[in-house]
Amino acid sequence: MSERLFQTIDLDMRPEIMKDNNNSSNIFRPQVGEIIKVDRFTNLEKRFTIRLKRDSLRFSPGQFIMVSILGIGEAPISLSSSPTDKGEFEICVRKMGSVTSYLHNLEVGDTLGIRGPYGNGFPVEEVYGKDLLFVAGGLGIIPLRSFIKYSLENRDRFNDILILYGAKNPGELLFVDELKEWGNRGDIGLKLTVDRPDERWRGHIGVITRLIYSAEINPDNTYAFIVGPPVMFKYVIMELNAEGITDDKMYLSLERHMKCGIGKCGHCQINNRYVCMDGPVFRYSQIKNLSEAL
Ligand SMILES: Cc1cc2nc3c(=O)[nH]c(=O)nc-3n(C[C@H](O)[C@H](O)[C@H](O)COP(=O)(O)OP(=O)(O)OC[C@H]3O[C@@H](n4cnc5c(N)ncnc54)[C@H](O)[C@@H]3O)c2cc1C
Ligand code: FES
Repeated sequence: MSERLFQTIDLDMRPEIMKDNNNSSNIFRPQVGEIIKVDRFTNLEKRFTIRLKRDSLRFSPGQFIMVSILGIGEAPISLSSSPTDKGEFEICVRKMGSVTSYLHNLEVGDTLGIRGPYGNGFPVEEVYGKDLLFVAGGLGIIPLRSFIKYSLENRDRFNDILILYGAKNPGELLFVDELKEWGNRGDIGLKLTVDRPDERWRGHIGVITRLIYSAEINPDNTYAFIVGPPVMFKYVIMELNAEGITDDKMYLSLERHMKCGIGKCGHCQINNRYVCMDGPVFRYSQIKNLSEAL
């Protein structure tokens, strides 16, 4: 593992980092990526495996890229694969509007524009030796999966690992094959819940906070990583606080409308923070007093 992988991005270093990854002095110029695999998960979500034509993408779990389609636009999308996968990377995209719908029509061999990686990512090295609690609601599993995969590949660097993942219904769960693998490993915990079960569902039913309530958590050694819809954050934080996890041991990844992804346009601004540069991952104690953050 190179030191570069989990380097914290220093604002003064921005141009160098961007030159490094874009191989160009124009920080807005995308690199060309080729789609080498497409997996349909649901009617709305597909996974794309991508390889850059000229370089390999070095990133940290929790970072994102700007994906562009010529003549259509750009969208921020989280990197979902392990940072140790060399040569290719994965994104998982929900069909929402113009860029993501166009992307869904692309096939193996098609190309698209990639800028980044951007954002700070999760504090992976800071939590070596700690218990990791991943709390994913809906699409929140997409960025968390990168960190989860890294922690499973480097299992001895972490203490207990517990993954809590909730979706509206069983058909909306993503990465189902991997969930089965994770559930069978025996050296981590995995709990799934859905709001609306079907007749085959044998897991938990109800909101994700119920999983926290029933989990065995050692608050002194646990760091929580929470990604999901805004409505989820408040209740998950309340429940984790009740379990004894303090605000400085919770990390949230926020989503905001983004245009540039590199602190130039102000679209993602919350008070004096740019979600694209200072985030998207924030320690909860850093942002709890920012009124617009959650
Ligand atoms: C840091 C970050 C990481 C993201 N990671 C992923 C990911 O891994 N997978 C994924 O599917 N999506 C992800 N998103 C959301 C994704 O960027 C938006 O769905 C996408 O920009 C929509 O673009 P579009 O051109 O398809 O839709 P548009 O035509 O631009 O818009 C369609 C609808 O989506 C709304 N919308 C656009 N962007 C956002 C946003 N950021 N938050 C809420 N609503 C929005 C618009 O207001 C509109 O109602 C991420 C967003 C951020 C900020
Ligand atoms: S997206 Fe432009 S400043 Fe953050």
